Amino acid sequence: MRVVVAGSADSAACVVSDLVEDFIAASPSPVLGLATGETMEAVYAELVRRHREQGLSFAGVHTYLLDEYLGLDGEDPRAYRNVVRRLLVGHVDMEPGAVHGPNPHAADLAVECGRYEQAVRAASVGLQLLGIGANGHIAFNEPGEPLDSTTRVVALSERTRTDNARFFPDGQSPPGRAITQGIATIGAAGHLVLLACGRHKAPAVARAVEGPVTSDLPASAIQLHPNVTVVLDSPASVGLACC
Ligand code: F6R
Repeated sequence: MRVVVAGSADSAACVVSDLVEDFIAASPSPVLGLATGETMEAVYAELVRRHREQGLSFAGVHTYLLDEYLGLDGEDPRAYRNVVRRLLVGHVDMEPGAVHGPNPHAADLAVECGRYEQAVRAASVGLQLLGIGANGHIAFNEPGEPLDSTTRVVALSERTRTDNARFFPDGQSPPGRAITQGIATIGAAGHLVLLACGRHKAPAVARAVEGPVTSDLPASAIQLHPNVTVVLDSPASVGLACC
């Protein structure tokens, strides 16, 4: 595992953007795994800037979402498919149909989870972007979920719902359930790039990188992967012994 500590959140986003840009340049048909959440916003802003100012092209890139809330209207701006459209996909030259995600409105969610699992595996994600929850979740794999999990419907923890309430209007709670890629699904990607910024992420980062691999801290499963880059700003790195 490589750990890169950048001087600021913006420079951490640049490091991740470099990895994405290099990946796109090196892959004949790039398949990029997208995460959502506040941490990724600076990465997507930087990628859009590079598209506009430096000609970074996303033509031919296919993207797969990690997760999606259940219970939101299809047009809801908090739906992750709409978030990535607003922050990235709508501003670059990605083809229509190049954004793939689980369908939260499917009549049979178990069938939909199986379909999406197969789609992600068949696509073979080359580079997977990951954030990390303050409780150590990756995608919406919450503490206690098995490390060999695949795409499924999950209940969000109270901690995650409280943390994500900031994305919703006052008085509106985040949904209690979501579809998420499992930890095993994520682990099938070629390169995991985990970005964390802020002092509030430091305890989870330290356990994910240097603690025991345990379902109590789902992000610790990245230690089992042969090709991982963890990119941090200084505050997120303070709990690490290594740096
Ligand atoms: C969402 C996702 C989540 C977030 C995590 C961090 O697609 O995968 O695991 O990455 O909740 O969110 P922020 O960046 O908002 O702290």
